[in-house]
Amino acid sequence: MRIDILTLFPEMFEALNSSIIGKAQESGLLDIRITDIRPFSKDKHKKCDDYPFGGGAGMVMTPQPLYDCINSIDPEHKAKRVYMSPKGKILKTALVADIAKSTDWLVILCGHYEGVDQRVLDLCIDEEISIGDYVLTGGELAAMVVVDAVARYVPKVLHCETSTDEESFSQGLLEYPQYTRPAVFMGLSVPDVLLKGNHADIVDWRNEEAIKITVKNRPDLLED
Ligand code: ADE
Repeated sequence: MRIDILTLFPEMFEALNSSIIGKAQESGLLDIRITDIRPFSKDKHKKCDDYPFGGGAGMVMTPQPLYDCINSIDPEHKAKRVYMSPKGKILKTALVADIAKSTDWLVILCGHYEGVDQRVLDLCIDEEISIGDYVLTGGELAAMVVVDAVARYVPKVLHCETSTDEESFSQGLLEYPQYTRPAVFMGLSVPDVLLKGNHADIVDWRNEEAIKITVKNRPDLLED
């Protein structure tokens, strides 16, 4: 899958060169390209923001550099183009899986300051996405969340393809607790049922634990 990220702060995306996402890039499963928006500005000082018409706090990203940047990368609008914004649709498992399934080319625009000129969104963007009900200083961290979450649904990125089936949220419940060796740590034992190895009992136990943790931390999931 190809993912283009458009940003005023390309250096923030170093984080995508590590761990599973880094390996997926090395093996060619992911082709992540970071583009600096600033060089596209036709302003003599490469300015990319200005005061909002109508007044108000902060600055707004001007349309010209964004428009030219997006269209130089995807002139025929073949990619799915998203804009990271607290005003967007909330990112949940269904949306993550849908993005991974519906496109092999994602363009992610990161905003800064008080947002971007609405005309860029009207002209160029397919969907606005929020990662939660809080406001970040920019869209970069949110974009990395989208990349990480979507990448997990790209075939072969995870070694174990069943991981996305059993984890939290995929069946409407949070995930059961996990244990590994040693069997006793600081006086705390791994639950007996897991040590005994009866598969049916383990499935029942995990289901009960998943319900317990969901009731405790996310009762709203059970209402759905
Ligand atoms: N940019 C600023 N806040 C954001 C959020 N909550 N989600 C996505 N992008 C953002």
